[in-house]
Amino acid sequence: MAKSASEISQLNAKSTIRGASKSDSEVVTTSSVLGKATPRFPEPAPLLSHGDARIISVVNQKGGVGKTTTTINLGAAFAEMGRRVLLVDFDPQHSLSVGLNVSTREIEGSIYDLMMDESTKIDDFLLKTSVPGMDMVPAHENLAGAEGGLVNVIAREKVLKRILNPVLDFYDVILIDCQPSLGLLTVNALTASHWVLVPLECEYFALRGVALLDDIIKKVQLNTNPDLQLLGILPTMFDRKTVHSREVLERISEAFPNKVCDTTIARTVRFPETTVAGEPITSYASSSVGAASYRRLARELIANGGVR
Ligand SMILES: Nc1ncnc2c1ncn2[C@@H]1O[C@H](COP(=O)(O)OP(=O)(O)O)[C@@H](O)[C@H]1O
Ligand SMILES: [Mg+2]
Repeated sequence: MAKSASEISQLNAKSTIRGASKSDSEVVTTSSVLGKATPRFPEPAPLLSHGDARIISVVNQKGGVGKTTTTINLGAAFAEMGRRVLLVDFDPQHSLSVGLNVSTREIEGSIYDLMMDESTKIDDFLLKTSVPGMDMVPAHENLAGAEGGLVNVIAREKVLKRILNPVLDFYDVILIDCQPSLGLLTVNALTASHWVLVPLECEYFALRGVALLDDIIKKVQLNTNPDLQLLGILPTMFDRKTVHSREVLERISEAFPNKVCDTTIARTVRFPETTVAGEPITSYASSSVGAASYRRLARELIANGGVR
């Protein structure tokens, strides 16, 4: 809650003097791998007003593909661009909360309480992060019990949508960090969202689970959220030294024409380091290629109209 939020932001407060940033030229792009011209995405204009938040679910039923890393760093990049950002930890493993230095032993309430008790209000559960302009709703292990707890709830797929409704006017973008499964929690996230962003590891077999995910997206479109759309497939863990990574990226691009993000995220040890540090790479290693990649991704999504 508010008290612990300010404590957390004080704990995390660091002067983030931006060093000479790595430029876009060091970011591997899908277009360059496919031998096409690489587009430039301009620095977005500042927003003159806020609200009408675009909600993006970060989904892949496979663990360890970069969902949480993407949620934190894409959110931080949007916040640097003056967007008001809310991150929702929607995984019982609560890596997002841990990755932002929120001790779940200290929090007074989490997304689980919001889901289980209709008398609670999201305003009472918002925490500030170390990134100015970026807030979060934490999760706790007890979220694992939510699917069972929702069995007898009316419109149980729409619970998260109802929870987020009151803050849509305040935020510009809401990112939901989903758990690695396609169960009721993920269906709740998809039902609340405008967009799905799918981090996909540049590894063989990465495409295997995508058909299932596609199925769920279609079911949600048909039953609870006709407006849901695929924002993009984000190639992660790209290794520019291997032919293998390039081949996988080519195959992903064939499978999803025009849906693969031009920005890719390279495999780098800096990301695991940031988890230990409890802050985004955009502040922990502001001038790294990893930070440049998530900044470029944010500009790409704004340029393509996914986010204002
Ligand atoms: N681009 C990357 N390069 C190297 N390691 C990464 C990268 N992205 C994430 N990681 C690391 O891989 C692990 C899994 O990432 P995470 O974002 O938690 O995946 P998910 O949320 O899909 O389970 C974490 O230790 C994280 O620090
Ligand atoms: Mg995760």
